[in-house]
This record gives sequence, C-alpha cells and structure tokens, in this order.
Amino acid sequence: MSRPAPGRPGHVVLVGMMGVGKTTVGRRIAAALDRPFADSDAVIEARTGRTVREIFEDDGEPAFREIEAEVLAEAIDAGEPAVIAAAGGVVLDPRNRELLTRAGTVVWLRAPVEVLVGRVTRGDHRPLLADDPGGTLHRMEEDRTALYAEVADAVVDSSQPPDAVVDAVLSVVREREAVSA
Ligand code: S3P
Repeated sequence: MSRPAPGRPGHVVLVGMMGVGKTTVGRRIAAALDRPFADSDAVIEARTGRTVREIFEDDGEPAFREIEAEVLAEAIDAGEPAVIAAAGGVVLDPRNRELLTRAGTVVWLRAPVEVLVGRVTRGDHRPLLADDPGGTLHRMEEDRTALYAEVADAVVDSSQPPDAVVDAVLSVVREREAVSA
C-alpha cells in the first residue's frame, strides 16, 4: 500500500492500460483538487522535443523506458502534491513499482479490452499498437494485470461515463487523504 506522509496529501497517480482515460480523467481530477497535472508521455515529449513514436523508432523501447523511469521519479519526488497520469507501461519496471508504493494514492483505471480498442487511436504516442491493437492490448493485459494490482490502492471501472469515473476517483482520494491526515 502506498502511504502519504501523515498530515500532507501525497500525489494522485492514475495507472492502467492505454485508452483507459488516464489523461482525460487526470486533468479533471487535478482541476477538482486544484493541483498541478502531469502526463508522463507529455513530459517526455516536451523534454526530448520528440514524439513517443520517434523515440521508440529511433532509439528503441528500452531507451524510452529509461526516460520514462526518470520522468516518473522526478514527478513523484516533486514536493507539491500533483495528479500524475502515468503511461500504461510504467508498471513494467520494478523501480517504478517501488516508487509508486510511496507516491500517495495510486488508482488503477480499468476497462475491458473491447472498450479500450474502441478508444485507442494510432496516434503518435502509441507505436506498440500499430499492427494489431486488439491482440496487442489483450497480451498486454495478461502481462500487466498483476503489476497494476501490485501498485494500486484502489480500482475504478473506467468503462463508466467520464463523470462517474471522476467522482469515483475523487471519493477514493478524499477517503485516503482523510485517513492519512
Ligand atoms: C505505452 C503506453 C502509452 C505510451 C507508449 C507505451 C504502454 O501511454 O507511453 O505508447 O506500453 O502501455 P498511454 O498509456 O498514455 O497511452
């Protein structure tokens, strides 16, 4: 379980598969809580001046995962409590999973692969889905379900309408932060 320092809210970190709504929901949670918002892919793109796809294609996935781990560590080490949308693959690295256990409140947004397939686009930040989005998402889910479960303090069904997802995440955060205050 992640545990914020007593008397002070930790970060709110959203984890889960591609297409589950981490960025959209994260922005709304940040606005509702009046905290800064960071999306790990967007931070990587701003920092490197390259798209996620370019980094995968030019340098390979391991290089991308190294930058991702640095960005996540910096976001979590930042003093001010923030809302962080952590890209789907962050749970693959045990160093990231360790960091997440002391990040604050980690919420796993979860939806069936059939729902995700309808939402993901072949945009610049999802090169892994190029050929067979459905099959790839199914394989990823098999590989990652136990990892999301390992880091999560709560699970929210993100196949619900967005307002319901936001409300559910906010009630998890308020409950945990009330207990830790
Ligand atoms: C990935 C998820 C993507 C992006 C990259 C790899 C993954 O982010 O980091 O395409 O391995 O799950 P989102 O989860 O924000 O789509």
